Amino acid sequence: MTASPQPIRGMNDVLPEAIAPWQHLEATARELLGAYGYEEIRVPVVEHTELFERSIGEHTDIVEKEMYTFTDLGGDSLTLRPEATAGIVRAMISNGLLRGARHKLWCTGPMFRHEKPQKGRYRQFHQIDVEAIGFAGPDVDAELIALTARLWRQLGIDHSVRLQLNSLGTPEARRGYREQLVSYFRAHEVRLDADSRRRLEGNPLRILDSKNPDMQSLVAGAPVLTDHLDAASRVHFERLRATLDAFGVPYTVNPRLVRGLDYYSRTVFEWVTDALGAQDAVCSGGRYDGLIGQLGGEPTPAIGFAMGVERVVALMAQLGEVPAPAPSDAYLVVQGEAAERAALVLAERLRDAQPALRVVVNLGGGNFKAQFRRANRSGATLALILGEAELRRGAVAVKPLRREAEQTDCPIDALPHRIDALLAAARRGD
Ligand code: HAM
Repeated sequence: MTASPQPIRGMNDVLPEAIAPWQHLEATARELLGAYGYEEIRVPVVEHTELFERSIGEHTDIVEKEMYTFTDLGGDSLTLRPEATAGIVRAMISNGLLRGARHKLWCTGPMFRHEKPQKGRYRQFHQIDVEAIGFAGPDVDAELIALTARLWRQLGIDHSVRLQLNSLGTPEARRGYREQLVSYFRAHEVRLDADSRRRLEGNPLRILDSKNPDMQSLVAGAPVLTDHLDAASRVHFERLRATLDAFGVPYTVNPRLVRGLDYYSRTVFEWVTDALGAQDAVCSGGRYDGLIGQLGGEPTPAIGFAMGVERVVALMAQLGEVPAPAPSDAYLVVQGEAAERAALVLAERLRDAQPALRVVVNLGGGNFKAQFRRANRSGATLALILGEAELRRGAVAVKPLRREAEQTDCPIDALPHRIDALLAAARRGD
């Protein structure tokens, strides 16, 4: 016997029994983003490898060791997107959509990172990504955060997430800080772990983000970025904080929040939770004022964030209110070849008359008992029975399934315009 096919480690199926919170999140986010004036954009899942190297940064974990990169048949180096921002920015540039214009965009779909899989961390995961391009802020920074806070309230998970906020200043101001940081860590080089020693040259700010408990006291004594902000970034940050205070959105300023991608400047933020274990970041983002210019587009300020759908879904499944999927309205129980055909035709006529009707035809035969079991399992309000006897009478037997009630007859031709009333009566219990 050949071995059964296996899924790829860290890449999960979302089965129908688990889909309800996904659909609820997607529908809620879609509606909310539309209400805030964001438009959906869809960009390819694959881009030139160079795009991610240039935007996310050569010395980041993502580019150094997590990308799914391959050479295609034409010899080009391509990469499965590890995040959405780079592709969206590329789309703005290659479609000539900048030219001083503003874009409020969102996108959803799978992202790919070759990380070590564990709870909440996958190799294929999904993001809802939101980008405001052409806005210097800090008004838009505050509004984006308010949008996320509103989404958590709508999903019923607002009590289990907290907002962390920081400002990274401009790259120029950061350069001076970086030098100070490197000399601080050099002075304590023996206490650095292997990862941090590697980062000392390429990306010393990431040492601040180290999760190694042995590094914590060293990190705690390091110079603080927020003390080295340039004047304009300081004002930007103060105005953002004042607006968040006016909204009543609580936050903690975390001067160690530096983010794992290189394109950020000024505002960075992360919604974290204590309910999911080690992978605690639910939604993260920030401002990337330099990225578009750096990639060859007209210099354009921008800010965005992405939430990890699996992590939000896990929180919803634990704490939120996920509406149950709508059960079917009617289940057609059929017996005999002629009745089977008549039932299929009748179901199409019902769908013509009532496009929203959830009608399931018993396919593949089975005795009455088995068919009624399926009808009950479908959650249908009514069983519509069509056997040879009914067909001879030109009628359908109508049986409410959710309460004790008599079976009645309805002429087949009358059913499409009577079905609504029959459903309403069955739900009322007439
Ligand atoms: P990120 O912090 O790399 O930022 O990812 C955003 C979110 O995606 C994280 O907060 C987390 O919830 C989720 N996530 C990341 N990696 C995984 C994984 N391996 N498994 C499950 N969930 C994961 C970005 O991707 C930026 N592009 C966000 C952004 C948009 N910044 C500006 N605009």
